[in-house]
Amino acid sequence: MKTKIVVLTGAGVSAESGLKTFRDSDGLWEGYNVYDVATPEAWERNPSMVQDFYNMRRKDVLGAEPNPAHYALRLLEDKFDVTVITQNIDNLHERAGSSNIIHLHGIITKSQSDINPKLVYDIAGWELNMGETCELGSQLRPHVVWFGESVPMIEKAAAIASKSDIFIVIGTSLAVYPAAGLINFVPYSSQKIIVDPNSPAVNANNLRVINGRAGKAVPQLVNDLLRDFE
Ligand code: OAD
Repeated sequence: MKTKIVVLTGAGVSAESGLKTFRDSDGLWEGYNVYDVATPEAWERNPSMVQDFYNMRRKDVLGAEPNPAHYALRLLEDKFDVTVITQNIDNLHERAGSSNIIHLHGIITKSQSDINPKLVYDIAGWELNMGETCELGSQLRPHVVWFGESVPMIEKAAAIASKSDIFIVIGTSLAVYPAAGLINFVPYSSQKIIVDPNSPAVNANNLRVINGRAGKAVPQLVNDLLRDFE
């Protein structure tokens, strides 16, 4: 059976693609406090502002390209059974060719019904506007998980983490739960590897921390893994 590698990524894996992280610039995200735009309350208060904000982010994502870290993760599939669990709402892992991706916090290139989150649609282009509705006639919103909302994919992600032989964490401050708790599901003896220039403090058995930027450190790590494991 192939060695199972599970990769948990955060905003840092896309930083070198030009997409801003959340907590590296005074808690502001493109000049916004995330709680002013990424909550159900913000959507109730000012849906056009929230829609515009995500339209800008979608434009950024469509204009960005995967970087060497995304592409290297795809190469792991040559030898390993790989699942990427990402907190990112961009589609750069998909565009780099990874096959098994779980989007814990949704994906910005899709919309969902305001009244039934199971009704999910592709968005053509970068713009989603007020007045665009689902098949039930209700307003469409970005298909992303906001603060205060449940994370429907977390149980599946935890089950996969619990099967990992190697668990790699890339570019996340591990500040947001339940995603940050996934490492606790990884078997005690499995190897845990963190890649981050400013790694969060983690207490875990068999832990290796690589202090580096993803674009350089991840291709090196992937080379080593492909070389060392048969
Ligand atoms: P953060 O902004 O909290 O953390 C980004 C991490 O990336 C930090 O640890 C940085 O040190 C690291 N980093 C920066 N540049 C890097 C690089 N070039 N290579 C590798 N690492 C780098 O982002 P997340 O942890 O992803 O949630 O944030 C978690 C969640 O909080 C997001 O998914 C979002 C946000 O609010 C929702 O939208 C629900």
